[in-house]
Amino acid sequence: MPGKINHQRRQLMLGAAALSAGVLPAAPSVAAAADPLKVGLIVPMSGPFASTGRQIEAAVKLYRQQNGASVAGRQVEIILKDDGGVAPDVTKRLAQELVSREKVQVLAGFGLTPLAFAAAPVATQAKVPMIVMAAATSVIPQRSPYIVRTGFTLAQVTAPMAQWAARNKIRNVVTLVSDYGPGLDAEKVFVKDFGEGGGKVADSLRAPLRNPDYAPFLARVKDLKPDALFVFVPSGEGAAVLKQFTERGLAAAGIRLICTGDVLDDDLMASIGPAAAGVVSSHHYSAAHPSPENKAYVEAFSKANQGMRPNFHSVGAYDGMHLLYQALRQTKGDSNGDKLLAAMKGMAWTSVRGPVSIDAASRDIVQTVYIRKAEASGGSFYNIEFDQVDKVRDPGA
Ligand code: PHB
Repeated sequence: MPGKINHQRRQLMLGAAALSAGVLPAAPSVAAAADPLKVGLIVPMSGPFASTGRQIEAAVKLYRQQNGASVAGRQVEIILKDDGGVAPDVTKRLAQELVSREKVQVLAGFGLTPLAFAAAPVATQAKVPMIVMAAATSVIPQRSPYIVRTGFTLAQVTAPMAQWAARNKIRNVVTLVSDYGPGLDAEKVFVKDFGEGGGKVADSLRAPLRNPDYAPFLARVKDLKPDALFVFVPSGEGAAVLKQFTERGLAAAGIRLICTGDVLDDDLMASIGPAAAGVVSSHHYSAAHPSPENKAYVEAFSKANQGMRPNFHSVGAYDGMHLLYQALRQTKGDSNGDKLLAAMKGMAWTSVRGPVSIDAASRDIVQTVYIRKAEASGGSFYNIEFDQVDKVRDPGA
């Protein structure tokens, strides 16, 4: 791999081609434009949410392999930092160091909501775009005018699930969510939309984010015996919930499981196995999405990563890179934060997930939300889309 690698500081530069001094133009403005553009990519590469970091890193690498390491005359250097996924103060310190010492002009990544919250003031102070690729609480872009989101929001994917359940003879539901930002958003939107559709939420349960034990919550659900249990847990946690749901006999007792696609994460489907069979979920991305763009993406991703299946966080990252490259083309390589933000607002493109755009006012992503059913296909389980709601905005929570 070409480029500088600084092992001591545990940072990894992905394919940054060294600039030859001989080709630097003399005029200062052009010379400035020829400086590499540094992107500080902060994700959990270790700890309980390491799969999010792995997916994001793989997607960013793939995007650069396919689209080149430079755009509009600027080399794009990626400086990857592992924040461990659980400590907001670590994420904040990394963001500060990237901006002040490494002189990054863009921040990106952010695996969980508390970590995006922690970095937001750094982006505001430094006036650098902050591309939120994974964290999904509605309020995040309001924490800094420099935030743009390319992933999704829980409120956005939960509303179609609640409406689908109400239309499909599910009358009585218990909700179970992780007790923090995205979970509270999902709970609020589900209770509202399912209630408006004529359904009744018998109880709303919240499991801790750290070291959760789902057993007491599932015991309560079994006692209440609703038609369905609605679940949101963040990417990485779904296998534990599904395993216990089956082991504790909820499925056998006739209780249906419905959930957001975070629970049936493509990265986890192999470990979930047959426990996923028939589960209906809603989300903005499935590796089984039947478009030519997605088929090519899944194949290239798998080939570049020893057979790994891309999940929704990878797509947030892949589209985050696309947004940055397109914005840089529009600014003709100028990395001024305000100019990049102006270029990003309102941008629209065909993602591997379907058509997407960045709402100019909220800086949040507008996209199709799919209703899917988990089915065996080619020896493993996939979320097969069978219904969709187009151009879904974050409804707020
Ligand atoms: C979040 O912390 O915002 C988050 C993380 C993982 C998910 C969804 C939301 O799957």
